[in-house]
Amino acid sequence: MFSKRIRNVQPSGTVMLSNKVKRLKDQGLDILSFTLGEPDYSTPAHIIDAAKEALDGGLTHYTSSLGMTDLREAVAKMVNEKNGIKCDYENVIILPTKLALYMVIQSFINPGEHVIYQNPGWVSYGPMVTLAKGTPVPVRMRHDAEGWNWDPRDIKNHITDKTKALILNTPSNPTGSLVSRETQMEIAEIAEEKDILIISDEVYENLVYDDEHHSIGSLDVASDRTVTVSGFSKSYAMTGWRIGWMVASKETIIMVNKLQQHSLTCLPPFVQRGALAAIQNGTHCVEKMRDEFKARRDLLIPMLNEIDGISCETPKGAFYSFFKMDMGFKSMDLAEMLLYKAHVALTPGSAFGSAGDGFLRMSYAASRENLEEGAKRIGEFARSLKKK
Ligand SMILES: Cc1ncc(COP(=O)(O)O)c(C=O)c1O
Repeated sequence: MFSKRIRNVQPSGTVMLSNKVKRLKDQGLDILSFTLGEPDYSTPAHIIDAAKEALDGGLTHYTSSLGMTDLREAVAKMVNEKNGIKCDYENVIILPTKLALYMVIQSFINPGEHVIYQNPGWVSYGPMVTLAKGTPVPVRMRHDAEGWNWDPRDIKNHITDKTKALILNTPSNPTGSLVSRETQMEIAEIAEEKDILIISDEVYENLVYDDEHHSIGSLDVASDRTVTVSGFSKSYAMTGWRIGWMVASKETIIMVNKLQQHSLTCLPPFVQRGALAAIQNGTHCVEKMRDEFKARRDLLIPMLNEIDGISCETPKGAFYSFFKMDMGFKSMDLAEMLLYKAHVALTPGSAFGSAGDGFLRMSYAASRENLEEGAKRIGEFARSLKKK
């Protein structure tokens, strides 16, 4: 009875793992989980207050499917000033970030058309392309002592006459790497030459350490062919609010709005009010969280590198360490063993594509105490494997 489309899609590897962790925790085991892709902070109080006020004020009905105009204007202003992307409110639609990615793929991809993205890369790009009956084309990133790098030559080599779009994720999940301005320029030129759409996923844009975030959509050569997607989840600890934005040409917004009208309709108005308060109150709370993530990163990475068999470069953004564990096991087996023997839950690198095998993702959106205990358990586990 089920459609071929849905049968072809694998369930999310990361969600399956968190279900296992939950079962073990329910059995009373002291499991330390570092699998979560969300800040471990509460949403700042001024954002919650704005949403409560909106509820008390009766904002409980539909809004425009494009989003409330004042929020669209605030996003446009911020994206102009911060990201350097020229836009006004008509270039903006308000929707959950994940749905924005889903909808842009649905709006552009015809059956059989290819979409290129990073390998290792976020778990949902491939399934989203499959659901549009497109062909996912994960392109391996190069890995060396400096970290992960997406080489434009590798992208070019995978372009065929069926290639319609490429997804660029910076800072990237799971590697924490950034796509440099020079690489963005080269990718933009390739996209221009081959007439390819660029989908830029910048959901971690505010979590960049010792470097700067750059939006490919701010490059003149890319501005007309780029759809930029970002949101409030990771920057403002608002993952449960399900709100983000898409910035694109007015024609694209009109198309995506049709999907919004026939599916979600709109985001709740009180959620939109909370998001507006987030923008209006400036970035002080974002900076505080970012500084703490950086401190945790600087605590964790040396601890991991001290473990014999583990190597990890310092991630430049997001809140993930992506480390290599050279023990002769596949990362799925390592993750299972770590879970059952060391009671540490990590995400196997293979969940993010073939290039991630041999790696494990550990989120450092966790307390310093848990990071220290987690690294200790991983170290003991690694030593016990070496002894065998
Ligand atoms: C790379 C990437 N893009 C998009 C999303 C979706 O963000 P949201 O949960 O705000 O919809 C995530 C969430 O983990 C992500 O890691």
